[in-house]
Amino acid sequence: MSQEIEQKEKLALEKRLKKAKLPYIKSIHDFDFSFQPSIDERRVKEVLSGRYIHNGDNILLLGPPGVGKTHLAISMAFEAITQGHQALFITANEFISECQKAEKQGIIQRIIKRYSRPELLIMDEIGYFSFDELSAHTLFQIVSR
Ligand SMILES: Nc1ncnc2c1ncn2[C@@H]1O[C@H](COP(=O)(O)OP(=O)(O)OP(=O)(O)O)[C@@H](O)[C@H]1O
Ligand SMILES: [Mg+2]
Repeated sequence: MSQEIEQKEKLALEKRLKKAKLPYIKSIHDFDFSFQPSIDERRVKEVLSGRYIHNGDNILLLGPPGVGKTHLAISMAFEAITQGHQALFITANEFISECQKAEKQGIIQRIIKRYSRPELLIMDEIGYFSFDELSAHTLFQIVSR
């Protein structure tokens, strides 16, 4: 019985990982806090506990290129997935083009549904792309849901 449960849990975890579409997997153990002293390690660890998901809080990672924003976001997603949550990763650029494509096909509601469903949505590279009105409006609806 316990073997069966273990196997099922393992498969479910693999499924959640696949569905999350993470560009790569890195965990918080690969993150060198001493190399990035401007980041409060205790605060990051507190975030990793996952309370923000239950509270419906947003986490913003701000900083110049190459300082570990994507790495930390992926670590948070990996942790959430391990805790049993469904996550989904997308870049702002991909999101904007998906919105534009969906609008042309008249299926923007589908986008709202798809990105409201996971308990954790990670949108990367937000500051690097300008949102047109449609994508901004769609993102607003997703966040408010
Ligand atoms: N403190 C750190 N410890 C370990 N690896 C790090 C650290 N900071 C950055 N890295 C590594 O450096 C590379 C660049 O980091 P990352 O892609 O997360 O940066 P970013 O802030 O998302 O940059 P960009 O704004 O260009 O997207 C990655 O391979 C990441 O794992
Ligand atoms: Mg990045």
